[in-house]
Amino acid sequence: MHFPELNRSKCKTYLVACERTRKALLIDPVKDNISRYLAFLGYHQLKLDAIVDTHTHADHPTGSFHLRDLAQTRLIMHRRAPVPAVDEHVEHGDCITIGDIALQVLYTPGHTPDSISLYAGDRVFTGDVLLIGGTGRADFAGGDAGQQYDSITQKLFGLPEETLVFPAHDYRGNTCSTIGQEKKQNPRIAGRTREQYVALMASLNFPMPEKIQEVLQPNQSAIDDDKTKFPDLTELNRVRQLTAEEVSAMTASTNPPLLLDVREPGEYNGELGHICGSLLIPLRELAGRAAELGAHRERVIVAVCRSGVRSTTAAAILSGLGFERVYNLKDGMVDWNDRRFPVER
Ligand SMILES: [Fe+2]
Repeated sequence: MHFPELNRSKCKTYLVACERTRKALLIDPVKDNISRYLAFLGYHQLKLDAIVDTHTHADHPTGSFHLRDLAQTRLIMHRRAPVPAVDEHVEHGDCITIGDIALQVLYTPGHTPDSISLYAGDRVFTGDVLLIGGTGRADFAGGDAGQQYDSITQKLFGLPEETLVFPAHDYRGNTCSTIGQEKKQNPRIAGRTREQYVALMASLNFPMPEKIQEVLQPNQSAIDDDKTKFPDLTELNRVRQLTAEEVSAMTASTNPPLLLDVREPGEYNGELGHICGSLLIPLRELAGRAAELGAHRERVIVAVCRSGVRSTTAAAILSGLGFERVYNLKDGMVDWNDRRFPVER
């Protein structure tokens, strides 16, 4: 079994390869290095069996979508990942098999709602949840410092102390740590209660990365063309969010809203189904097809997608086009299904 890190930079991409079957997994590939990964795989005669993004990245364009298409392999992410380009969704406790190697999925939200860690016997790939001597920021893209504390202290720190820790980032030249070392020495977590950790994270006041939305929105939607003009953060923050309960009550009223589903057709009819009576216009087509919604301009519109991320973008686009009563279904069809509201498939 081989585990090289392939970027040699602050942003880490790990390869996990099975010597017997020559099957390989790439964890968190970045778009700029796709040629390097393909060359490495070819040189070592490895077949890319799967790609995992440990979460939706906000700091760099993911290489997963292109690499998945080029190598004709599968992209695996947590079921709360917003992007439609995922082939296999996983949950806590699932196992990803690469030849003779088994990687156990740990659901470790907090940095983002879709963050997972992968545990493979003597090591754990922690994404951006637990870093070496640090933790990933919890202040954007649905992050939650309390959840992050629970993920680290209850799930990651429950692993054997000698487990090697490989994070998705390191800014200080570290390459590896152990669970025992992080438990004792991680200055963000060691000796802190949940409340103290939440207060610490809230006090950090990191500046927002300059181009965050330009990176985040293609990573969330798999739309990467020149035609789509994504809303900015202010426009996204202005979108009014409704819970599944609120939307369900509205649909049962005498004046129900127009439910606008902005997923891909395969998702609309897929495993999560769709809400009865919803109109499908995929996000990538929305700006060009907004005229179809002209008759509904006075009506309340609720945008719907898989996890509530693409639909927030859709709602902001419609607001920008002059639709005044647009809302978003928070946490999308994943939450709608979890709460057992009715769906059609
Ligand atoms: Fe991240």
